[in-house]
Amino acid sequence: MLDVDPVAPDPAVIRRAAAVLRSGGLVAFPTETVYGLGANALDAGAVRGIFAAKARPAYDPLIVHLADVARLPDVAGAIPPLACELAEAFWPGPLTLILPRGPRVPAEVTAGGDTVAVRVPAHPVALALIRAAGVPVAAPSANRFGHISPTRAAHVLADLDGCIDVILDGGATRVGVESTVLSLITSPPAILRPGGVSREALARILGDVCVVDRPVLSTEAAPSPGTLMQHYAPRAEVTLYRGPDEAILPAMREAVSHLLAQGTHVGLLLAEEDVAAFAGLAVVLEVAGRRAALEDVARQLFTSLRALDRAGVAVILARDFGAAGLGLAIRDRLTRAAGGRVINVTAPSR
Ligand code: TXA
Ligand code: MG
Repeated sequence: MLDVDPVAPDPAVIRRAAAVLRSGGLVAFPTETVYGLGANALDAGAVRGIFAAKARPAYDPLIVHLADVARLPDVAGAIPPLACELAEAFWPGPLTLILPRGPRVPAEVTAGGDTVAVRVPAHPVALALIRAAGVPVAAPSANRFGHISPTRAAHVLADLDGCIDVILDGGATRVGVESTVLSLITSPPAILRPGGVSREALARILGDVCVVDRPVLSTEAAPSPGTLMQHYAPRAEVTLYRGPDEAILPAMREAVSHLLAQGTHVGLLLAEEDVAAFAGLAVVLEVAGRRAALEDVARQLFTSLRALDRAGVAVILARDFGAAGLGLAIRDRLTRAAGGRVINVTAPSR
């Protein structure tokens, strides 16, 4: 575990980590979204190491990280003009583009497919590391497969201690949810995973953009190979409450009373404004942020889920934060954490 300044990383530390990447090793590093588990994307053996460390199934392809859009021809087989326009608008940043695969990218990265996922992360440590390594860096989120993505180095250590060579600790990540995955293979383009760049922001360039309905359970058909699993799952059983604010809180309160009467240890994932509604109840509260401050909620989301698990609760009731802006990505992650256990509250209950 090497400490590194998130704004001005020490070149000596970066060189050390880059050397590990170049020699086929695994380096966990911060991006603006979540921590990634990196390997040289052009080294099939190193990439296999990522899958082994995470216990990730080989059919789930990886995102290739570049330091500069100018390196895109190294990994993409074709670059549509729209890709350049999106890169101009959103890179470095939390947008991943699905493009035709270039011939130098090993099949391990793309899970045998003829498309490749690419992004340029907006984090000084990630950019310095990729530059110093001098190779594109394949990196999934640095968590055990199916578990909650890491937004701090301590989360990486908790999941993968002993399985990786170096962790660069650059503090907590700024965005907190993963990148938006946008396919430019289909026409019109489609969001395969909502994330740090909102649908509304993409629509300013693409016009309206469709969001592919991602299956939550492995029994449903999958549009993107890695999306067919329950993901972001804490140990506790999660239920997500959706609906108008005036209806969600009474419904959650009622559920809490039932659970407490049964002696169940309950955790709540709430907005700051909700806390008063649960005053005096013997539950574990995690506040993600104010309802309107979705950037705070996204940043805090995975840390809160991990904290509830550490508190040992058996059940987590989480509130929805709407579908506008980052709300869509937050809803997606909570729906997955809940394994599809979603309660749509329609009318205020008394
Ligand atoms: O913010 C992020 O995207 C973080 C940081 C580390 O960059 N990375 C991340 O990677 O979340 P991962 O592997 O946990 O999620 C990548 C997602 C998966 O759902 C995977 O199936 C999808 O991208 N993906 C990768 N390559 C793809 C491809 N060629 N076609 C469709 N989906 C793809
Ligand atoms: Mg992941």
